[in-house]
Amino acid sequence: MRDVARAAGTPTFVYSATSIRDAYRDYDFAFGELPHTICYAVKANSTLAVLRLLVELGAGFDIVSGGELYRVLQAGADPARVVFSGVGKRAHEIEYALLSGIHSFNCESESELGVLDEIAGRLGVRARFALRINPDVDASTHPYISTGLTEHKFGIGIQHAEGVYVRSRHYRNISAEGISCHIGSQMLDPAPMVEAAEKVLHLAAHLIGQGHDLRHLDLGGGLGIAYHPGDAAPDKKQFLDSLRDRLAASGLAILIEPGRSIVGQAGMLLTEVLYRKSNGAKQFVIVDAAMNDLIRPALYQSHHEILPVDRSDEISIVDVVGPVCESGDFFARGRAVAGARVGDYMALAAAGAYGFVQSSNYNSRPRAAEVLVDGDRWRVVRERESYADLVRGETM
Ligand code: LLP
Repeated sequence: MRDVARAAGTPTFVYSATSIRDAYRDYDFAFGELPHTICYAVKANSTLAVLRLLVELGAGFDIVSGGELYRVLQAGADPARVVFSGVGKRAHEIEYALLSGIHSFNCESESELGVLDEIAGRLGVRARFALRINPDVDASTHPYISTGLTEHKFGIGIQHAEGVYVRSRHYRNISAEGISCHIGSQMLDPAPMVEAAEKVLHLAAHLIGQGHDLRHLDLGGGLGIAYHPGDAAPDKKQFLDSLRDRLAASGLAILIEPGRSIVGQAGMLLTEVLYRKSNGAKQFVIVDAAMNDLIRPALYQSHHEILPVDRSDEISIVDVVGPVCESGDFFARGRAVAGARVGDYMALAAAGAYGFVQSSNYNSRPRAAEVLVDGDRWRVVRERESYADLVRGETM
């Protein structure tokens, strides 16, 4: 990490290829004999080098925009292994996806089905879809990343789903291919995911009985990772074991859309201590990374471990804050951290998911560089933005 910081500068996101491969293979192993496709949720980390690693492992992809489709195609993904999720797909994005030959659309409303049918008809192709079911199950996670209750904007209420499948038969250019759900993210207890899957399996069996030719079940994403040292990440194999018999009996091919649990632990945000100061009783460590680089603490009150790079002694209780002009720009409050002298490097752990992708240019800060470590080698996979990048496309 010190070598990377010296050569590539800070702040920099650093990813471990081995960690990403291991997490992917854990899923693959957990599925075992069940017919499955692991559709990595691109939103968690859409850097080309990361996508490329997953392409090489044989992953499918869950995209939510035309931009994400562009990225996975750039990375060499097989469009036939891509599913398109999201509550507000635009016509040009649907058209792009149809022309690219993606596997299917996870549709979230009847009006979306109408648009899909119209565009497929115009292009002379057939669109496959799965309805995203809102199973009304509480994911018991942070309210901003909880999606499976009827009060949320997501999916089609489970009680309405059959009617929508029935009416979808009137459309000429779309066919019901599957059924999907996603109830939330960062679930340390997979029980709600199991409950949601059971409800959707039950519905799928009923629909198949009614003559709907469903082929796949998409379990969504959501398995959490350990941000706090005391947390235990759910075991992927145990999660699938608890559903295995019912999944197998359904006769459906199984899709899953993990994001965080593939890349979250694989990444750290490397930063340098700029200053130390105290205001009364409070001690502050001011680092060169900020909320524009990693917004998770400010947005979801999330915890990221702060690890010393240079020395592990000299522990002090501090607030670790960035240079952005907001009190919300903090990474830790009243935290015991080691090795935080001016000029020391520190690493914010578990920053591989929803880190860089949620970064911005707030305060006209160029976005961070990204580095991929593979074995004993590393390379910059995204250059740090320059000042010229900041004003690209602007006119006066
Ligand atoms: N599938 C769908 C339809 C999703 O909406 C999501 C995440 C996933 C899969 C992947 O979920 P995962 O396996 O990563 O939990 N920015 C927030 C997380 C937002 C999650 C949005 N949807 C955070 O930093 O915690």
